[in-house]
Amino acid sequence: MSDEIFPVPDKWAETAKINEAEYHERYARSLTDPDGFWNAESQRIDWIHPYETLKDVSYDEADFRIGWFLGGKLNICANALDRHLEERGDTPAIIWEPDDPETQARTLTYRDLHARVCKFANVLTVNGVGKGDRVTIYLPMIPEAAIAMLACARIGAVHSVVFAGFSPDALAGRIEDCQSNIVITADEGLRGGKPVPLKANVDAALEKVEVGRVIVYRHTGADVDFNPVRDVWWDDAIEVAAPLCEPETMDAEDPLFILYTSGSTGKPKGVLHTTGGYAVWASMTHEYVFDYRPGQIYWCAADVGWVTGHSYVVYGPLINGATQVMFEGVPNYPDHSRFWQVVDKHKVEIFYAAPTALRALMREGDEWVTKTDRSSLRLLGSVGEPINPEAWDWYHRVVGERRCPIVDTWWQTETGAAMITPLPGATALKPGSASKPMFGVQPALVDPEKGTLLDGATAGALVITDSWPGQMRTVYGDHDRFFQTYFSQYPGYYFTGDGARRDEDGYYWITGRIDDVINVSGHRMGTAEVESALVEHPLVSEAAVVGMPHEVKGQGIYAYVTTNAGTDDNDELRKELVQWVRKEIGPIATPDVLQFAPGLPKTRSGKIMRRILRKIAENDMSNLGDTSTLADPSVVDDLVANRPQ
Ligand code: PRX
Repeated sequence: MSDEIFPVPDKWAETAKINEAEYHERYARSLTDPDGFWNAESQRIDWIHPYETLKDVSYDEADFRIGWFLGGKLNICANALDRHLEERGDTPAIIWEPDDPETQARTLTYRDLHARVCKFANVLTVNGVGKGDRVTIYLPMIPEAAIAMLACARIGAVHSVVFAGFSPDALAGRIEDCQSNIVITADEGLRGGKPVPLKANVDAALEKVEVGRVIVYRHTGADVDFNPVRDVWWDDAIEVAAPLCEPETMDAEDPLFILYTSGSTGKPKGVLHTTGGYAVWASMTHEYVFDYRPGQIYWCAADVGWVTGHSYVVYGPLINGATQVMFEGVPNYPDHSRFWQVVDKHKVEIFYAAPTALRALMREGDEWVTKTDRSSLRLLGSVGEPINPEAWDWYHRVVGERRCPIVDTWWQTETGAAMITPLPGATALKPGSASKPMFGVQPALVDPEKGTLLDGATAGALVITDSWPGQMRTVYGDHDRFFQTYFSQYPGYYFTGDGARRDEDGYYWITGRIDDVINVSGHRMGTAEVESALVEHPLVSEAAVVGMPHEVKGQGIYAYVTTNAGTDDNDELRKELVQWVRKEIGPIATPDVLQFAPGLPKTRSGKIMRRILRKIAENDMSNLGDTSTLADPSVVDDLVANRPQ
């Protein structure tokens, strides 16, 4: 099955914006004539002042810098809203589909969205937010999340969206790291019929870190605590807000947003993106990857709390004048047909989701899909983790009835938008392969140990050899960490943290993270983060966390925990520790397996041998390798003997 190649359907080859020949021609041009290529692509953005220098980049430590479209001035919010008003002011921009199918969907035209964003931008200003200030957004999947982001961009404030599934502690850490003085939240979120206590979480976070203002959107109408000195109701503030708000003139390299993401060490990093390059990159990739033309109904099922929601719910589609569905709920509520019912209800043509959701639905049987119509669907997308050929086949055959190409888009929070991806009219598909680079992207494979470039069909560590416009510019507040994390391992290259294989046709197959990052349901989780949450428990002396294969989530979290001497390692404590991690980080960090480990396999110098822990987690005992260099080889026998089945 995985060897099968799916050629570009004739209809797509004939009508798509980019066919195969055009792909090759433009890709070559993007490398040989970057000035000409990017000058043409930059025209998709309305600049207040044209840029003067395309690019100023050095990956050398001594004069490390990344800049694009230097001297250019723009406002990304004006590009997403104002400039559409004349031509498509009355066209729906966001069709909001609520968690409960019985609740009325909401449609916001470009004009509606513009009016709301302008008013909310004034609310921010009145509440003391100015250019360059950081604004924390902790909202569910409601149009107000996009409104809040765009309002920040309009006045030049830097948004930091925190996924509404994160705990008060995780929220507090992110507020503190970017020193934001304001949080925008809702009374509650709603997912799968269950309320998410957002305001209560904010209140708990603000016991640890202080902010001057909390703006609260009334969403479910739940009764929540309200601090009259600090808190403001969104609606009350909007009611008295002025309607007009001129967009701030921003430099191409002014910060647009910070988004926290997990790395292999330490606390989550504040990935910082700037304005001009990101605008061009998000818009260009959205147009070509989805072959998007205004009027088509597009639905990206990602949450705005992740980068996919930033680039492919908010900025990319809106800059391109798209009409999109924004979905508050989950794929299996009220039942496993929900995704496809939403597709039918709103006549969705382009659908973009994560493999984990597809695998979960696939297990429930085909009838949930086949009883829906789905004839509106033309193109399917996948993002966030490797899509296994079985899930690819199901998506293609059952959901798309073999008629819809699948764009398997590989990218990262750091890359801003899609980097390696098929284009529907240009790329023959190989299930499980993200295929070919986007224009301007130069992927390469290096030998993980030696760092030397590898040629031809081979496997190695995935690097990108030169900059692209949507590349992150720094780790907020820690530029040295930016360099050390991504550019020090393989000098001269951006290191992705992923491993990949390249086949004889030059197709890339991402094999997954090769650092200590686990990809749980398409969400990045640093093993170090889960470990540090565990050791904060008073009964835990040491913890080691690794990934394990998981049928639905892709990877699950396997935690080895050493408790203090004399502790009774019973089931109750196990449950308590699992709950502890959920509370410290959030439900997505919940360990799938927690094994008590009287000792961890360590070298004589005290380094934990994660390789062995990974093998035990994978239940691959035949392959534990050489354990003789361990300080105490017997701990391995103990772990193997006591592995929970
Ligand atoms: O390991 C890769 C995996 O997700 C990581 C990036 O995670 P994040 O920054 O949260 O962004 C997710 C949404 C873009 C990558 O390092 N990944 C993402 N897309 C794919 C993927 N792995 C394989 N195939 C993909 N299409």
